[in-house]
Amino acid sequence: MPKGVAVNKMFAGISGRYDVANHLLSGGIDYYWRSVLIKRVQLHKPQNVVDLATGSGDVAFKLLSCLGSTSTIVAMDFCEPMLEVAKRKKAARTIGSNLVFTYGDCMSLPIADESIDAVTISFGVRNFEDRQRGLREINRILVPGGKLFILEFSQPDRWFRPIYYTYLKYILPSVAALATGKKDAYDYLAGTIESFPTKTELSAQILQSGFEDVESSGHTFSIVAIHTATK
Ligand SMILES: C[S@@+](CC[C@H](N)C(=O)[O-])C[C@H]1O[C@@H](n2cnc3c(N)ncnc32)[C@H](O)[C@@H]1O
Repeated sequence: MPKGVAVNKMFAGISGRYDVANHLLSGGIDYYWRSVLIKRVQLHKPQNVVDLATGSGDVAFKLLSCLGSTSTIVAMDFCEPMLEVAKRKKAARTIGSNLVFTYGDCMSLPIADESIDAVTISFGVRNFEDRQRGLREINRILVPGGKLFILEFSQPDRWFRPIYYTYLKYILPSVAALATGKKDAYDYLAGTIESFPTKTELSAQILQSGFEDVESSGHTFSIVAIHTATK
């Protein structure tokens, strides 16, 4: 089965419990990571933003509240059940038409060339079937000077790795199995985190896909990193 299809199926299977599992497994620190990401975006005051691999929409909702009603946010995912969760969350709030959740596959985005001021993607790049292709697609849709913001797991500080990898391999899948009933999805998560590039390696891949001024910062012992880049 191609990776994209398997990833789509896996997220469909955990969509209903995704938020609970996220906050439980990260001890709630994922709220902080997303807020650091949004603060970086806010500095650039983009008018139109696309949040890719939006999942249940947490980055998109936060973008909306921080950028204000003059900005438009299109939030895309290729997994319909995840989008349904985001749409239900939107329906439960009073949100206007400047936030839209819609289908979009990062391997081939339904967005015109050079039409977007900023792209955010949180915990999505790791799941791409073809990372270079996804990054080039993002580059294609950004206006010249447009900004890319990636929040993703990274390789933690060396001293912290034994503790972290023990947690990932032995504790996280069991706790996640209790929360979601889907241990396999979290075995996958642990595997993709362990094999994901370091900050320096990911920066090189972003440069290779046509971006400039790539910067990265590690957070929480570099469990996650934020990469920013300019087209
Ligand atoms: C770990 S979740 C992250 C969701 C959200 N961004 C967050 O921060 O919680 C990964 C999401 O990426 C989506 N995804 C993975 N590959 C994708 C692709 N090629 N195109 C669009 N969405 C994709 C999955 O469907 C899933 O909803």
